[in-house]
Amino acid sequence: MDAHSISCQEHRSLQPFNTFGIAAQARYLTEARSVFDLENILFSERFRHVPKLFLGGGSNVLFTKDFDGLVVLVKIGGIETVREDESHVWLKVGAGVNWHAFVMHTIGNDMGGVENLSLIPGTVGAAPMQNVGAYGVETKDTFDSLEALGIESGDLRVFSHAECRFGYRESVFKHELRGKYIITSVTFRLKKKPSVFNVSYGDIQKTLSEMNVSQPTLRTISEAVIRIRQSKLPDPAQIGNAGSFFKNPVIARQQFEELKVRFPDLPAYPAETDTVKIPAGWLIEQCGWKGLRVGNTGVHQKQALVLVNYGGADGLEIKNLSEKIQASVLEKFNIRLQAEVNFV
Ligand code: EPU
Repeated sequence: MDAHSISCQEHRSLQPFNTFGIAAQARYLTEARSVFDLENILFSERFRHVPKLFLGGGSNVLFTKDFDGLVVLVKIGGIETVREDESHVWLKVGAGVNWHAFVMHTIGNDMGGVENLSLIPGTVGAAPMQNVGAYGVETKDTFDSLEALGIESGDLRVFSHAECRFGYRESVFKHELRGKYIITSVTFRLKKKPSVFNVSYGDIQKTLSEMNVSQPTLRTISEAVIRIRQSKLPDPAQIGNAGSFFKNPVIARQQFEELKVRFPDLPAYPAETDTVKIPAGWLIEQCGWKGLRVGNTGVHQKQALVLVNYGGADGLEIKNLSEKIQASVLEKFNIRLQAEVNFV
């Protein structure tokens, strides 16, 4: 394919392509609707040596400067049944499919496993990167495998569950293989006509009761999750944000016990034996940040883990705010918060 047939825009604002709504510029911008498009982009004469950034829904990225290279919007679509047995169905989903649209497809077809992950912004291809999770469920729980294109080699490779090395908001694609592969599709193993659901996360049970639901279904659980999210998390279409800005820190049990003496209300998630996971939102709130506005940025009033762009903020303003928050949490609790959002 002739390289010049790759249509791209130049000096294009990225504002519509990141949920923080940061108006950084891309030197070049194009989109890929297929693996073939991606291959053409990777190996074109024109762009072979130009730095590239592959973007899904832009819901976990903070642009701190203009991107002097080619931004590729990954728009590979399609939801296909690739396998089925009596109890499960395997769906292969294009990386560019909107995550929530995929969840709604599973619910409409009575397939269980991702209903607790309703209304999460972003695309299917981005979900395994950080093993997206919410309300007691993570991507890894229904993940079967994925296909990814090697940026150097151009080979399409299948990654098994084990090869992705999932952890809490972690995968191999954030570590050893960072920047080496573009995820092109993800295959999920979903339960047919499920009757058992994960309602262990406190707020779900409470919300179902408020909805007068005694026998939950896929749809009512999804509705409950949507209600909870809408009550706590700002809608990126109204107010720029990228969900949780930090990861919930995992600390040694001994440090937890010591802190508990000074802060008896310190909450914790159940975790493995020697460590404890602490809600970062609580730590940030205790440092007095919740609801504070600093210039065009701020800390969301209803969930202190979410930093927001009230309009017109640039990425550095948000980064500066995040560093101030990190410093105060470190000073008060001796806990180092790690950003969950990727800085570009
Ligand atoms: N909390 C506060 N103040 C706050 C926020 C939270 O005290 O302002 C404390 C409360 O004790 C609350 C607890 O934190 O009970 C948990 O809060 P929440 O249920 O909102 O969950 P989270 O730990 O803050 C995590 C995920 C979210 C996910 C929710 C629900 C991370 C980094 N974040 O937040 O994921 O939706 O659990 O499962 O693990 C995201 O990754 O973008 C995201 C939104």
